[in-house]
Amino acid sequence: MKKYYIFTYGCQMNVHETEKLAGILEDRGYTPANTPDEADVIVFNTCCIRESAEQKIMGNIGGVKPLKKAKKDLIVAVCGCMAQQNDMASLLKKKFPFINIVFGANNIEFFGEYLDTFNEQKKFLNMVEKDKDYIENIAGVSCVRDNSLYAYVNIMYGCNNFCTYCIVPYVRGREKSRSPESIYAEVKSLIKLGYKVITLLGQNVNSYGLDGNTDGVNFAKLLDTIAHFDGDFELRFMTSHPKDLSAEVIDVMASNPKISKTLHLPVQAGSNKVLKAMNRSYTRESYLDLITRIREKMPEITLSTDIIVGFPGESDLDYQETVDLVKQVRYHNAYIFMYSKRKGTIAEKMENQVPLATKRARIHELLDIQHHISEELFHEMVGKTICVLVDSELSSEYSAKAQCGKVVKINKTQPLCVGEFYNVKIIDYKKGNLIGTITNE
Ligand code: 5AD
Ligand code: SF4
Repeated sequence: MKKYYIFTYGCQMNVHETEKLAGILEDRGYTPANTPDEADVIVFNTCCIRESAEQKIMGNIGGVKPLKKAKKDLIVAVCGCMAQQNDMASLLKKKFPFINIVFGANNIEFFGEYLDTFNEQKKFLNMVEKDKDYIENIAGVSCVRDNSLYAYVNIMYGCNNFCTYCIVPYVRGREKSRSPESIYAEVKSLIKLGYKVITLLGQNVNSYGLDGNTDGVNFAKLLDTIAHFDGDFELRFMTSHPKDLSAEVIDVMASNPKISKTLHLPVQAGSNKVLKAMNRSYTRESYLDLITRIREKMPEITLSTDIIVGFPGESDLDYQETVDLVKQVRYHNAYIFMYSKRKGTIAEKMENQVPLATKRARIHELLDIQHHISEELFHEMVGKTICVLVDSELSSEYSAKAQCGKVVKINKTQPLCVGEFYNVKIIDYKKGNLIGTITNE
């Protein structure tokens, strides 16, 4: 029996696309390998959002060379966002002559055919298409999901926003929404199969339908329809661009108990000057106003964000405005990055690049500030009752997840079912985990 191993880098979109690559491989009789050295096919599903991601991937591809030497028939494929970049396929082949197939982020559905062609011809395949900017036939592609309780569902591909630092619009192309019918069918089948947490995915889910491909169904309508499906499940979505999160979506969230009261709302920076240079299309004030409106409707909401420090031209004062915003909003979680120059983006050409030492100092300080806020917020949850999904049973306790994704440990004082929702009272917060006990409150 032939085996496969997939290295996955980057966002949830890539994690989900790896599930499709696995489906394609299993349709062809391959089974999962535990380690790369057992595999007959190794796939690198790549990311290029920051230089650090690319460096790590290059290192890992290099690490496969001895395996290829030991097993002449080993097939090595590289796909995803990094592969999609201009001239990357030839650069990869030059650097790593043992690579057999390269294909782009939007060709996932054809991987099986590439594999068949390679097996027939035994010749290097460069299948990156420059003008193909979305995955066409994804609904028909098999999917081997990584987990039996949590499922990702793609509702759209690509991004039209062209934030000046970001490479995603160049590698993923323009926004393209999937048809509502195909999304509804997929979600219904997942609920039937027993999945409990469904996460709708897109680079900017709030612009779902704006491309005119959904018969007038916008994101609020899509969300509302799914939240009314029968079954015991929770609905989440990401990512929301703050400029597009409508009052209608907030109302739908607030009025549907099946929609998790958690939002990932990337702010990127707290200074209006930097936001403008980033082409984010909102101001610090309008972002804070949005947060106020969300909290008015859903006081229990947990918020998370993405932040970039050291964007070109970010002064100490600009950075302080980000610090101030983080302290004001009090996110449960923040993903903080140092700005990384990306080839072909507008910010790459900006002259006032921030020195690495300054970026480092800022990220360390901000991570520390955020860590304290997160700790305070999780300590403040002690005494509250929340709904959690029990997702695994360990020898001495059950492990569950809160709507915000935080792990909740529950003592084994009574038998619980993995895959069921329970109300738990939070009694402690220790070593990064919430501790809960079952309650009927
Ligand atoms: N440098 C650093 N961080 C970036 N992101 C996107 N592009 C870059 C870049 N060039 C971050 C943004 C985005 C997240 C997914 O990655 O914060 O929201
Ligand atoms: Fe990149 Fe901006 Fe699109 Fe997000 S919204 S993928 S940061 S261009």
